[in-house]
Amino acid sequence: MHTKVWKKNGTTIIDKEIQEAANLLKEGEVVAFPTETVYGLGADATNEAAVRKIFEAKGRPQDNPLIAHVASAEQLKELVTYIPDYVYPLMEAFSPGPLTYILPANDFCAENVKAGLSTIGVRIPSHPIALALLQAAGKPVAAPSANVSGKPSPTQAAHVYEDLNGKISGLIDGGQTGVGLESTVIDCTGEIPVILRPGGVTKEQLEAEAGTVMIDPGLVTSSADRPKAPGMKYKHYAPEVPLYLFEGNHQAFSAFVDKEKQAGNRIGVLASNQSAEIFPDGTKVHLLGGTIEEIASSLYDGLRFFKHANVDKIVCETFPEQGIGQAVMNRLRKAADQIIKE
Ligand code: TXA
Ligand code: MG
Repeated sequence: MHTKVWKKNGTTIIDKEIQEAANLLKEGEVVAFPTETVYGLGADATNEAAVRKIFEAKGRPQDNPLIAHVASAEQLKELVTYIPDYVYPLMEAFSPGPLTYILPANDFCAENVKAGLSTIGVRIPSHPIALALLQAAGKPVAAPSANVSGKPSPTQAAHVYEDLNGKISGLIDGGQTGVGLESTVIDCTGEIPVILRPGGVTKEQLEAEAGTVMIDPGLVTSSADRPKAPGMKYKHYAPEVPLYLFEGNHQAFSAFVDKEKQAGNRIGVLASNQSAEIFPDGTKVHLLGGTIEEIASSLYDGLRFFKHANVDKIVCETFPEQGIGQAVMNRLRKAADQIIKE
């Protein structure tokens, strides 16, 4: 299959190209497009055969439901049977934006979008290209992250191309995405909202609008409960080189890297700008940024970076779990082969 790539022309993709991509969606083809979180791999959510192509291109397990992307609150309402009161202030504050609502579904969308569940995840993305594409398509668009299943989500068109060239009909190159981690998924089927996946909107931000917000017990690593978002049970976001997560102070981190190097291991380090100077001479260090927002935005690119860098192990530092730091650490724990505590 030929993958058509539309490139950003200056700062915007022109209408004609959006229209072309939307037409492919309407014809039942799959097209990758940028959102403010990560690139999505879209198909007409009302077309079962089109949605099946997403699962095939990604190699995604059949029991993992997809998020339906819509352009407006009115369109969101068409896909669900009920919206609890606490959702309205959340929508007011965060939609369009990186927040996905799990709500009781009607049968507007194809069955395989929901993967057998009675609920559906719905999100209004805020990226101008995503919104323009959704408006032009005029239908809800089912879209998981546009990576091969199990790999880090794509934050650049080049990541999508590397994973899916030849397997999808089109790719809109809108440059680097913003947040860099996926949307927050909240279960809105109960009395109070429950975070199933931390992401672009933080728990603190949600609580400021909706009062108490819970975290799915299945998300806490020590818990035996199954995560409620089916996707969260898989090993995820994993680079092709083993990833070690290091929890400890600078001195211990540097000593650990040194010890690994002495043992003959070629090490690639992922670290914050503040840790740049602590490692032994000659260590390959890829800096993720100075603030936790910058780190979130460049994390997936960092995880992919060492694939081409001839290292045996990646060692990444841990970050404080405040704000988007919760999502950063959730993804790092899921990607890690081992967590080292000193
Ligand atoms: O930011 C994002 O959310 C990106 C962009 C493209 O919008 N999409 C994304 O989709 O991350 P995906 O498929 O990679 O992750 C969706 C997550 C999975 O963990 C899935 O199990 C969960 O949402 N999910 C979807 N529908 C659900 C439902 N009805 N009930 C519970 N969890 C659901
Ligand atoms: Mg994904």
